[in-house]
Amino acid sequence: MGKYQRPKGTHDLYPFAQDWVEDSVRWNVVEDLFRKVARLYGYGEVRTPLFETTDLFTRSIGDGTDIVNKEMYTFLDKSDRSMTLRPEGTAGVLRAYLDAGLANTGGVTKLYYIGPMFRYERPQKGRYRQHQQCGVEALGSDDPALDAEVIGMALAFFTAAGLTNLTVKINSVGSPESRAAYLGALKAFVEPHLAEFSEEGKTRFETNPLRMLDTKSERELEILAGAPSLPDYLTDSERAHFESVLGYLSDAGYAHTVDPHLVRGFDYYTLTAFEVQSGDLGAQNAVGGGGRYNKLVEELGGKPTPGIGFGLGFDRMLMALQQLGVDIPLPPGPDVYLVADGDAARGEAIRLAAQLRARGIAVDVDYNKRSVKAQMRAADGARAKSAVFLDDAAIESGTAQVRDMAAAKQTPVALAELAQVLGKR
Ligand code: HAM
Repeated sequence: MGKYQRPKGTHDLYPFAQDWVEDSVRWNVVEDLFRKVARLYGYGEVRTPLFETTDLFTRSIGDGTDIVNKEMYTFLDKSDRSMTLRPEGTAGVLRAYLDAGLANTGGVTKLYYIGPMFRYERPQKGRYRQHQQCGVEALGSDDPALDAEVIGMALAFFTAAGLTNLTVKINSVGSPESRAAYLGALKAFVEPHLAEFSEEGKTRFETNPLRMLDTKSERELEILAGAPSLPDYLTDSERAHFESVLGYLSDAGYAHTVDPHLVRGFDYYTLTAFEVQSGDLGAQNAVGGGGRYNKLVEELGGKPTPGIGFGLGFDRMLMALQQLGVDIPLPPGPDVYLVADGDAARGEAIRLAAQLRARGIAVDVDYNKRSVKAQMRAADGARAKSAVFLDDAAIESGTAQVRDMAAAKQTPVALAELAQVLGKR
């Protein structure tokens, strides 16, 4: 251990870590898979800055939310401008969409992203201060078929990665107008029981009553079980939209459960809100979530444009995959490990390594003058396809033994033909 520690709630990634949530090799495999799925569904990649002006987030996520109130990494830059490390992807993507004038191109604009998000949360298993999301935003249509497609895409990705035991919870949170009537009814229902609510519950009652439904307190959940249900307050057209989304999900065979108390931690959602939960994780079981935000583009200064998207949590997903023991196909190790015995052989190994790499062959070589046995162990650990044994005799004869690591078989190969032979393996 060195003198410095990584910040609380963060983790490092490195190749072949024991914990998959720290294993850069498996992360890359899963990222590549997401890129493939994104292509299947017609999404192009967007990369936005890791920080934005603070008001972008307060405006879009909402100033009564936990994220804005408690969890943002906000700082003044050297010109006294308030900046915030992005706590989520949607706001920045919509800002970029408007900046680039994409709103005027017609049709549905489909954008995906992969990257870190920052939230000052109480760290625990599956909850970090820097976490990684892959997400999509589809802008320009309020067709319920698109809602079902977006949910289906999240499931397709999780399933292709090997997750099982997934549940989609879905709700419709209506519009600010229909919600206002609901919030009145919800508050009237809770008020006689308010004394039994936690301090946080009481604050939510005042500042953001919908968030009361998101409590983990058993007593509060017990009381709220009898609370009025949001979907009952939808207008006819909002209800029709919801029914239609559910219909498309059923048609496509996506198992889902309507949860009339599902609310998410952002004020921007309208109509569809959903969460994907994994039965293989503990308390932090939401592997992904998303929904519609039909007013947000307008809120950020664009013309009215409906949108929908999701964010999926990489860290939690990798934890679940490890828990399940899913066999993630790993990329190959080096094509060859050069095992050298003696100074002359080491010199030859270094020359050969350069020649082979120049021909596109991945080579590793020992720089610690270790024993042949230790070098073989290193070749094995690196999952090299072949090992080449170089010693004085090999240099003199111009022929070395080449070991096929998987077959555990050795054959003599002329050094001059090594590149050709290894290139074919
Ligand atoms: P979110 O539900 O806040 O949604 O985050 C998406 C996913 O990121 C979560 O389901 C979870 O898997 C993961 N996640 C969130 N916070 C943490 C954390 N502290 N540690 C580990 N994983 C975490 C959004 O961020 C929305 N922007 C999604 C969206 C896109 N809605 C519409 N478009």
